[in-house]
This record gives sequence, C-alpha cells and structure tokens, in this order.
Amino acid sequence: MAIRLGDQAPDFSAETTDGAIDFHEWKDGKWAVFFSHPADYTPVCTTELGRTAALQGEFDKRGVQCIAISVDPIEDHRGWAGDIGDVGGTDLNFPIIADPDKTVSELYDMIHPGEGDTSTVRSVFIIDPANKVRLTLTYPKSVGRNFSEILRTVDALQLTDSAPVSTPVDWEPGDRVIVAPTMSTEDAREKFGEVEEVKPYLRWTAQPTG
Ligand code: BEZ
Repeated sequence: MAIRLGDQAPDFSAETTDGAIDFHEWKDGKWAVFFSHPADYTPVCTTELGRTAALQGEFDKRGVQCIAISVDPIEDHRGWAGDIGDVGGTDLNFPIIADPDKTVSELYDMIHPGEGDTSTVRSVFIIDPANKVRLTLTYPKSVGRNFSEILRTVDALQLTDSAPVSTPVDWEPGDRVIVAPTMSTEDAREKFGEVEEVKPYLRWTAQPTG
C-alpha cells in the first residue's frame, strides 16, 4: 500500500554498506532522508549519490541522516562506492541498503511496474524524529533529483514545525513567510511584530528566528 504523509514510516531490517541495520534503531530519533535509486553503475544515480555525499555537511547541520536503497546486491553497492566518490568528489559517507529480494522497496512502494521493470524509481521520503513521513517525492528513472530542493524542504518542515507559519511559493531560507491560517492577525502581530495583511487570509511576516 502507498505510504502517505503523516503515516508512520515502516520499520525494517536490512543489509547496508555500513552493515546490518534496523531502520528505526539506525534513525535514532533523528530526521532522515530515505531515497531509492534504480540501479548501481548507472550515470544519473552515480551523480545523485555523489551529490548527497558532498552535501553531508548540510544534512548534518539540520540533524538529518541520509540513507539510499536499490534492489542491487551488497557486493555491487560496495564495488560502485568508489565511482560515487570519484564522480561526486566526496567518499560515500552514508549507507546504501541492498534489497535484492525487494522486501523494503515493496514495503515503501518504490517499484512502479509502469516504469518498465522491477527496479525502484527515484522515491524520496523525509521522515521526522517521531518516524512520521512528512514529505514524499517521486521522480522517474530518467530525471535526476535536485538535492538542494530536498534540503530546502527540510528547512521548510523544520521551520513550520517551530512556529505557526507556512512557506510560500519558491521560498528560500531567510525569505518572509506566511502566518498560519489558524492564527488571527492580532495574535500574529503580538507574536511576530510586523505583519503585512495583503488579504484576510494572506499575511506576511519575517522568518521567525530561534
Ligand atoms: C541512471 O541512473 O542513469 C538510470 C538508471 C536506470 C534507468 C535510467 C537511468
């Protein structure tokens, strides 16, 4: 069954390039970006995993652990890891799950038969510290993902968890934000200071800090 926003991220045990893990135990109450790629030794996937390794410092700053998966066996993941480092400029620094029997890929509905074969498409699950699925993305095999966008959505989730605000179209960290519809303009002015009311339902304020 498809995993929807707000669902508990299913737990599982798996073999990874960092050894055997139980997902929830590995996650350890932190944020996680769990993403699938179609196959090892393929060009788009190599660039995506290289980019994730290069962005590790940015994920660390946000308290996010990354973990990838494909249906390839662990020996292939291990053999391919060097290429990821060569291409992305940073050694592989996060685990890749080997899922040759497709147990985890099917649990997370990462295999879409309409996409041609029995390997995973490019799924992304952003999972919060309480193991709740907070954001999903699904890209076809031919289109590489934008990992800066994944960082941006983590920033937006963490910000909107911390204050009664929403992020508008094309929001980037530091941009102004929208007061949540559940808050009156009067209460928003008390909480945030300056609030610009463009429409009764569209109120802007500066990004809250701290
Ligand atoms: C790739 O990573 O380049 C790729 C993998 C599977 C299908 C299409 C492209």
